Amino acid sequence: MSEPTRTPLIAGNWKMNGSLAGSEPLLREIVAGVSELTGVDVLVCPPYVYLQSVASWLGGTAVRLGSQDVSEHAGAGAFTGEIAAAMLKDFGCDYAIVGHSERRALFGDTDERVAAKFLAAQGAGLTPILCVGETLEQREQGQTQAVVASQVQAVLDAAGVAAFANAVIAYEPVWAIGTGRTATPEQAQEVHAEIRAMIAALDATIAAQLTVLYGGSVKGANAAELLAMDDIDGGLIGGASLKADDFLAICRAASR
Ligand code: 13P
Repeated sequence: MSEPTRTPLIAGNWKMNGSLAGSEPLLREIVAGVSELTGVDVLVCPPYVYLQSVASWLGGTAVRLGSQDVSEHAGAGAFTGEIAAAMLKDFGCDYAIVGHSERRALFGDTDERVAAKFLAAQGAGLTPILCVGETLEQREQGQTQAVVASQVQAVLDAAGVAAFANAVIAYEPVWAIGTGRTATPEQAQEVHAEIRAMIAALDATIAAQLTVLYGGSVKGANAAELLAMDDIDGGLIGGASLKADDFLAICRAASR
């Protein structure tokens, strides 16, 4: 494989946390800390209702904005409660998370719907962050590779490999999310390498440039060892993205 030139990406997924009053000081600290770093891209994904405020606080800084989800419906229309990708772009988003395991498990996001969201995001000029990952039961039954491959394949079938030239994949083992039980660097690297190999089988250049994030109980204390692995290009951070010190420690671990 050709020498990778991937800039590490640290993305904070706030999930359904935070408040308007609390977001501004958090962002100000993150922006100040990130301004001292080089060689790392940093992204925050707040709840939809805070996007406009966060966009205004981030304006002109190096920290980018993303959404936690996006409607699978590309156009405007009678879809009560949905947010279209074009609307997110309007509000300054550059990225959209799709297929987070919480959406898959709690809100019925199927592989097909996730693929539609991926396409809707790209169609509006957003970079989708496609989340994949196995449950504990699936891992214990030796199904990790098959589960992750089928989740990636569903998007490949819908979008084609070329779409991955402008996409990010996040490997988030469900058993590691919010549990404090991080995948070992070796466990994560094994799956990341399999994901990259799957893309490489179709297009080696796209695979070599593809950013593959790890998510699941990443903290300042374990970030460096995860990020040291060849195919781990950054992190998708939940709990630790809600405190500036914790998030910045991870950003610093990724900085070059
Ligand atoms: P935690 O970092 O809280 O485990 O969450 C990971 C995650 O789900 C990010 O999308």
